Amino acid sequence: MTDSLTVRDNRTGLEYDVPILDGTIKAADVGKIKTGEDAPGLAVYDPGFVNTASCRSSVTFIDGDKGILEYRGYPIEQLAEKSNFLEVAYLLVHGALPTKAEYESWVHEITYHTFVHENVKGFMEGFRYDAHPMGMLMASVGALSTFYPDARNISDADNRHMQIVRMIAKMPTLGAWSYRHAQGKPFVYPDNELSYTANFLSMLFKMSEQRFEADPRLVKALDVLFILHADHEQNCSTNAVRSVGSSQVDPYSAVAAGVAALYGPLHGGANEAVLRMLRRIGSKENIPDFIKGVKDGNERLMGFGHRVYKNHDPRAQIIKKACDDVFEVTGVNPLLEIAQELEKIALEDEYFVKRKLYPNVDFYSGLIYEAFQFPPEMFTVLFAIGRTPGWLAQWLELVQDKEQKIARPKQIYTGDRTLDFVPAAERWA
Ligand code: CMC
Repeated sequence: MTDSLTVRDNRTGLEYDVPILDGTIKAADVGKIKTGEDAPGLAVYDPGFVNTASCRSSVTFIDGDKGILEYRGYPIEQLAEKSNFLEVAYLLVHGALPTKAEYESWVHEITYHTFVHENVKGFMEGFRYDAHPMGMLMASVGALSTFYPDARNISDADNRHMQIVRMIAKMPTLGAWSYRHAQGKPFVYPDNELSYTANFLSMLFKMSEQRFEADPRLVKALDVLFILHADHEQNCSTNAVRSVGSSQVDPYSAVAAGVAALYGPLHGGANEAVLRMLRRIGSKENIPDFIKGVKDGNERLMGFGHRVYKNHDPRAQIIKKACDDVFEVTGVNPLLEIAQELEKIALEDEYFVKRKLYPNVDFYSGLIYEAFQFPPEMFTVLFAIGRTPGWLAQWLELVQDKEQKIARPKQIYTGDRTLDFVPAAERWA
């Protein structure tokens, strides 16, 4: 067996041998296929990068057909059950699990960078009273680049480490303050005696009490949710981080692009859309009508379907279990019944079965977040906090990868050519 592809160009009758490496061919090799010396090389057309690898990565492995997700080789199920978010963040960023000393130093570093410059507080207060917290998060992460101008020195390993620590540490602070702003409540400073996730809950919900003590079951559930969201290989927001990062901009600006991508309803905004959908359906009796609308192409069943998972989304199954733990503390969310019935009906319906549409991570996460009493606008902020170590691990890989170049796709030009410009005064005469 030869690891190559023989291509015959029927336009010219010429044959080409294209090497196959790791199950891929190089687009540059395809570009060598031409009809003449000066003719443009053959290119591949792939909107949405459906079948195009943009990088080599050792961060996350996904087998969408089998429903497998692994971070640095460790199955997500084991990490969710036995690890914690900061350890997983270390694993993603450093590529291996920490020793005890490495873990303690990592937790210490992250914990002592949770505070932000007072001016950050000032400009966050300047947002409109009803600003979407995701918009605030995106802007404030981007703004951190102005507080740490040294971050642009991306070729220095210690400097990169510093920014990574800062960003993972400050994300909950920025996220919590984005929430408090819309509530008209004073910002709560970090409490560095608490764990990463318990501190986040404190910054969100603390009022006049000396210390905000979240129920440990809720802390654990939120920590698991962060782990489940921590990375997902080349998804839309990670691709945005890599694409913007490929210009060699500082990591705050690159991650702000990731936050922006995550804001969209087809990506991180889906769980917010799931809740809106469940509310609109209102009761189990209305489900058949809703399903009919989806099948007629009038709407989408939000929280279903995935570009990669065509069997099940392993994160959805872990979240379903976390739902039980959270509802034990908070009481059951009445929308759960509708969600479960919707899932049951959809999983038996030919339309969804044929298209391999299964519940994804967002189908149940919104229900949990609502049980925490987060308003829907906050859901994507929670996703962003969880995804930050993944974005940074991918960014780190990008900046150290000698094969990477500035991202610059080709296009197929479909517009006019060589028109003669007529000045406005003549056109409008
Ligand atoms: N409801 C109804 N039909 C659907 C859905 C859905 N949720 N998702 C896909 N389809 C249909 C789609 O209409 C198409 O049908 P046809 O072949 O007849 O044209 C077929 O399934 C293939 O869909 P696609 O849009 O080509 O698939 P994609 O890989 O481009 O899109 C997706 C993936 C996640 C954007 C899409 O499934 C979707 O919009 N789902 C709802 C939004 C959602 O839940 N997003 C969260 C994704 S998971 C979180 C994350 O990792 O970011």
